[in-house]
Amino acid sequence: MVTTPSRLTLQKLVSPRFSPQEAQELTQFLTETPKKIPPKYFYDDRGSQLFEAICLLPEYYLTKTEMELLTRVAPQLPHHTGACELVELGSGSSRKTHIILQAYQQQGLPLRYTPIDISSSILEISAYNLLQSYPRLEVHGIVGTYEEALAHLPLTQLPCRLIYFLGSSLGNLDRQQCAVFFQQVYQGLQRGDYFLLGVDLQKERAILEAAYNDSQGVTAAFNLNILSHLNCRFGGNFSLPNFRHIAIYNDREHQIEMYLQSLVSQAVYLQGLDLHLSLAAGEKILTEISRKFNLRELQTELEDRGFRAVETWQDDRGWFGLLLVQKA
Ligand code: AVI
Repeated sequence: MVTTPSRLTLQKLVSPRFSPQEAQELTQFLTETPKKIPPKYFYDDRGSQLFEAICLLPEYYLTKTEMELLTRVAPQLPHHTGACELVELGSGSSRKTHIILQAYQQQGLPLRYTPIDISSSILEISAYNLLQSYPRLEVHGIVGTYEEALAHLPLTQLPCRLIYFLGSSLGNLDRQQCAVFFQQVYQGLQRGDYFLLGVDLQKERAILEAAYNDSQGVTAAFNLNILSHLNCRFGGNFSLPNFRHIAIYNDREHQIEMYLQSLVSQAVYLQGLDLHLSLAAGEKILTEISRKFNLRELQTELEDRGFRAVETWQDDRGWFGLLLVQKA
């Protein structure tokens, strides 16, 4: 635990060196058919910066739409929850937290924020920025994965907790991972605590594919950067010019699928895993799924898992949804 002289404490649950479990998990993913890389490897420092740039792209409507919706909805949150600790999963730049903090500040409620992110640098920078803007704010940052952080949440001194998971990051989990994640959130909450989800909704293929194939190539750079991250973290020798970015909408599964396609027949070695890979020309590595939701179905799934639906909201076009539930 690192304590800074201010109103910020930091808890680091990740080490720069990979664990045997991490090595085993990645080896398994890379040796499946099709080969896969878990999307958490997008988010080294450069990947986190590229993701922030994606959020500003004209084609990537998700962030803008959610911000507008959240601006409309946030003033209602303190009326539902009263004083509560705000816990953000995958906090990144904490941009959306400004909107939520303002709502709690306006009601004169205590401001206690627990951002959780895998990237230490982005978490620290955004925490310092928030502390400058909110003199009454206290921040306890946790650097780690959602699973680690949810299992290590310190007891809150406030009457309740609101965990929020925005930006449709839920869509990056497959159905099975999603079920496990809901269980972890449920266990991280006390009875009466709240959970707010922001999710991208099902819509036309053309809109979705444009969002993941932007004209400036930022999403392609973000996708390819996952290989640089593996090279750096696991001593790999992926050659980035030998791959290209692909993003297509699978309408049967209601998900965008992002791949890196090998442009040549090639061999790759990851020293840290002692793993030799051979890739055929045209072979695709799955790097991400981004599921698109039906709000009603998602609400039913959460109710089946012991949550009580409080309220749902959508933007005027029905492109993005927010869902507030409570642990019953
Ligand atoms: C973080 N996550 C919700 C983004 C998404 O839309 O699935 C990641 C992303 N991948 C490509 N562009 C953005």
